[in-house]
Amino acid sequence: MAEIGQDIAKAKSLLEKGELVAIPTETVYGLAANALNPDAAASIFEAKNRPSFDPLIIHTDSVDKINQWVEEIPESLTLLAEKFWPGPLTLLLPRKSIIPDIVTSGLDRVAVRIPSHPLTLELLKTLDFPLAAPSANPFGYISPTSAEHVNKQLGDQIPYILDGGPCQVGLESTIVGIEEREVIVYRLGGLDIREIEAVIGTVKVKTHSSSNPSAPGLLESHYAPRKPFIVGDVASLLPQFLEKGQKVGVLTLSQIFREVPELDQIQLSAIGDLKEAAAKLFAAMRSLDDLNLDVILAEWMPNEGLGKAMNDRLQRASVKA
Ligand code: TXA
Ligand code: MG
Repeated sequence: MAEIGQDIAKAKSLLEKGELVAIPTETVYGLAANALNPDAAASIFEAKNRPSFDPLIIHTDSVDKINQWVEEIPESLTLLAEKFWPGPLTLLLPRKSIIPDIVTSGLDRVAVRIPSHPLTLELLKTLDFPLAAPSANPFGYISPTSAEHVNKQLGDQIPYILDGGPCQVGLESTIVGIEEREVIVYRLGGLDIREIEAVIGTVKVKTHSSSNPSAPGLLESHYAPRKPFIVGDVASLLPQFLEKGQKVGVLTLSQIFREVPELDQIQLSAIGDLKEAAAKLFAAMRSLDDLNLDVILAEWMPNEGLGKAMNDRLQRASVKA
């Protein structure tokens, strides 16, 4: 198992040696390495068992530093950076050659983000290189929102986990870039698109998946629990499983089902608050996955704002690879 603590100097010295450190962010925990060191970045793919065609996001603490690593930040994206960084926003920017191919999977753009977690920002300030960091989960599984989640699955492969408590946003960053001067959202995430549109006007959403994500890699099957995971109208799905005597887990926004034992169901927010629900979603999926159940039934979230990003994750979790 990894050592868990809040020692920034220790994290820094491991990262400088090319080692892996798990870091907290406001979205999910990341599995970090020096992005300018190709060997260090390669060990991320190894630890996660991640295909090398899936590029990594680099993390840093200032736009001045970012300018060392990208050719330019287009004007409309600058507006978003000014408004939402530090925060759950990732920008796809034209990279300079100092960014190794392994980080971008050879693509021309590099994904960049300034996360808003205080501990990680403090760490990033002390580093003169960016941290490449995908979510700190084995490839295809649910993203971790606590140090314990990371330790359970990747603890054997990393020396240190920087513990920043539970993630406040709980969904990965929203990924945005430009194609022929048009702003495109490639991944729905912790930053509500309506907030982006309030700053720069209507944007195009292009989150469609493929098995070879030359555009942001959004694989159809992802975020997947090990158990059968079905999303739909729980009330009408439930009887067929209960009749067969199966043990059913239930995940809803606020609805309670009397037919199901209390301990086997999770309501994400009693008052139906989507922010609260988003922050709890991945931890809830994990804890249901850890129970002795035959199947997990999840209710779609209201299809607006963060609910859309949550539905995207539920959808991908329900598709078996
Ligand atoms: O909130 C987050 O974004 C978290 C935290 C740790 O920052 N990170 C995260 O990383 O979710 P990851 O690797 O799990 O997801 C990053 C997504 C991938 O689907 C990847 O394909 C896409 O970003 N991506 C990264 N670099 C890209 C690039 N140069 N062009 C297109 N897509 C890219
Ligand atoms: Mg991920």
